[in-house]
Amino acid sequence: MKTPNMKAIVYKHYGAPEVLHLTEVARPTPKDNEVLIRIHATTVTSGDVRLRKADPFAVRFMFGLMRPKLQILGHEAAGVVEAVGSKVTRFRKGDRVFGSTGLGSGTYAEYISLPEDGALVTTPASVSDEEAATLAVGALTALYFLKQAKLSAGQHILIHGASGSIGTAAVQIAKSMGAHVTAVCSTANVALLRSLGADRVIDYTKEDFSTMGLTYDAIFSTVGRTSYAQSKTLLNTGGVFLTSFAAPSDFVHMLGSKLFGGTRVIGGGAPDGSADLEHIRSLMAAGQLKAVIDRSYPLAQMVEAHRYVETGHKKGNVVIKVAA
Ligand SMILES: NC(=O)c1ccc[n+]([C@@H]2O[C@H](COP(=O)([O-])OP(=O)(O)OC[C@H]3O[C@@H](n4cnc5c(N)ncnc54)[C@H](OP(=O)(O)O)[C@@H]3O)[C@@H](O)[C@H]2O)c1
Repeated sequence: MKTPNMKAIVYKHYGAPEVLHLTEVARPTPKDNEVLIRIHATTVTSGDVRLRKADPFAVRFMFGLMRPKLQILGHEAAGVVEAVGSKVTRFRKGDRVFGSTGLGSGTYAEYISLPEDGALVTTPASVSDEEAATLAVGALTALYFLKQAKLSAGQHILIHGASGSIGTAAVQIAKSMGAHVTAVCSTANVALLRSLGADRVIDYTKEDFSTMGLTYDAIFSTVGRTSYAQSKTLLNTGGVFLTSFAAPSDFVHMLGSKLFGGTRVIGGGAPDGSADLEHIRSLMAAGQLKAVIDRSYPLAQMVEAHRYVETGHKKGNVVIKVAA
């Protein structure tokens, strides 16, 4: 029997948003250990933009030197289980689920097959597909780094880039750990960060967080706009610097802290895991973690969505509604 087709956004060349085209491709068939998901919502992340542009150039060494090896972008999604492979035990047809593709991609499409033991969990009844779709990249990354910091109740953390996808989740997760949170963002996002629970908000257009005489047990640079070198004097003894987008100098300090000890500098890629996603799920179900959605676009307006995310100033997340 011929495999049915599905709509997907495909890119065959690196470049401007216009390389993304709505087209029809074969629907995936789940392997024995996989779950076929009918996608209701996905997102455009800043990582998707980097992959589309092959920026930095090093992207090409991993994802295709001349052209992208994986021609459908998108790393997180929410939807409904359409079918399961013969060895799947964790999910059943009809389950609402959300998750991430890990290092793979392919959620700019009507269907995707994902392994049941990957970063995939059921969606709480109180959470919409649009909301759930935003939490398997930003929140999972935020949780990974905050766990590395081993934050305890009452400790002070500064979150730089607090209005982005990782930042908005990090503020809420750090609050759920009992930390005192200082968020750094621009004027337009001060009220948002307060509403997410930040104890102190620093508007970077008016104040320089590094010269205010405040110190922290952890500093989390989520969008790479501050480095360990710029903020190390603000760390208390035993403090930790976290970065989800490390500057070249951060890599040197990461190596140094591994080899010689001293202040911990933690960067690199956050691994995907169903255990951490279960933690995210429970925070959402308990109302301690809310999705921040800036804009939503239909699948057919992917080019516009990429143009917007590329500005670098989205608030939280940009959602793509795949199913009508
Ligand atoms: N290590 C990992 O495993 C991992 C995983 C996922 C993503 N990442 C990377 O992490 C980075 C952040 O991802 P994201 O999705 O959170 O980014 P994002 O949502 O695209 O970040 C956008 C936010 O950055 C803020 N921003 C821009 N310039 C700023 C500045 N000078 N100071 C403070 N805030 C500023 C903007 O706020 P304003 O409008 O207020 O400026 C905006 O709200 C990306 O580079 C992504 O590729 C890493």
